[in-house]
Amino acid sequence: MQVALKIWRYDSSTGERALREYEFDAPEEATLLDCLDIVKERQDGTLAYRKSCRMMICGSCGMRMNGAAVLACKVRMYEIAQAGEVPVISAMGNLPIVKDLVVDMDSFWQKFKAMKPYLQPGYEEPEDGREYRISQERMNAVHKESLCVNCGCCVSECIAMESDPEFLGPQALAKGMRFVGDPRDAATVERLEEYSGEHGIWECTRCFFCNERCPKGVDPRDAIAKLGAEAIKEGIDRDMGAKHAKWFIRSTETTGWLRETELVPKTQGVVSSVKQMKFAMKLISHNKAGLAFPPHVAADVGEARALHKLVHEQGRLGFEGHVQGERALAKLAHGYKEGRDPYAPGSFPRPYLPEGEA
Ligand code: SF4
Ligand code: SF4
Ligand code: FES
Repeated sequence: MQVALKIWRYDSSTGERALREYEFDAPEEATLLDCLDIVKERQDGTLAYRKSCRMMICGSCGMRMNGAAVLACKVRMYEIAQAGEVPVISAMGNLPIVKDLVVDMDSFWQKFKAMKPYLQPGYEEPEDGREYRISQERMNAVHKESLCVNCGCCVSECIAMESDPEFLGPQALAKGMRFVGDPRDAATVERLEEYSGEHGIWECTRCFFCNERCPKGVDPRDAIAKLGAEAIKEGIDRDMGAKHAKWFIRSTETTGWLRETELVPKTQGVVSSVKQMKFAMKLISHNKAGLAFPPHVAADVGEARALHKLVHEQGRLGFEGHVQGERALAKLAHGYKEGRDPYAPGSFPRPYLPEGEA
């Protein structure tokens, strides 16, 4: 088949940047990574990119196609080439580019290390001298998190990291959940304390781009939600994000609605709220916010309360209150077709238009 690619070339030593187009013959089963190999082999040996396993295991070949992070060895080119599309290939986002499609992963690994990504055992050995065994059902709670191949595709797309490069980010936090959810680990509370600090769990904006782009079905945003629920369960709720989440729970339980006007004092505290009183009065006068009292109570509030009661009765607090999505695991297969395939031609949400160089 005939394939055409546009590739953003970049050399950090000179600052030179250029969008180059390549056309070539490739076998019909070729992936994007195969196509880059062909370009390097036949047309330009200076093209730089990372690769190793060629089978979605090593996590080396993360890059962007039409502005969305992909694993190059996962993307089949057949349908794209048949449609006559010329995808634009560029380096991943949120990490400095070293050359062409190669990014500096140093900050990525620093955050990974900060999670203490190893088991800190603290379980009691069984008396019969046999090994400590965990049920499959229990390990299912961290199954998705265990699938991470450290490719960085989620980090590339993280909007919270764009505004705060120190945010721990989706990959590191998903790794943290891998150990918080492991019943053999004895450092759960210490971990949750650390992950709940500045640049931690509560800095995530819930944009879900990491779930959208993770090629391994890890669903990092779900992992962050599980960490938040675990932190609250352990009473670690100093951060405004935790207070905010707690008020959502409380207000739906008591009224069946979100009591928005009370959200500010409950989240930021009384002193901060008093300082914002003038602004609040302006919002109320323009019908942009309601009076806090009396709170609006939904007609069917009993249903909301029954749901909260059920969660408590079943003991589904913390990460156990989260439903594991099968869809994430289905995404592991090539050609995932249920619903929208995020790798299909035309599926990429954001065109890559670098500043001044469209
Ligand atoms: S959901 Fe949170 S962690 Fe995931 S990409 Fe968005 S801001 Fe980043
Ligand atoms: S969570 Fe997914 S996208 Fe992020 S590093 Fe792991 S495998 Fe890659
Ligand atoms: S080359 Fe290993 S994941 Fe693509």
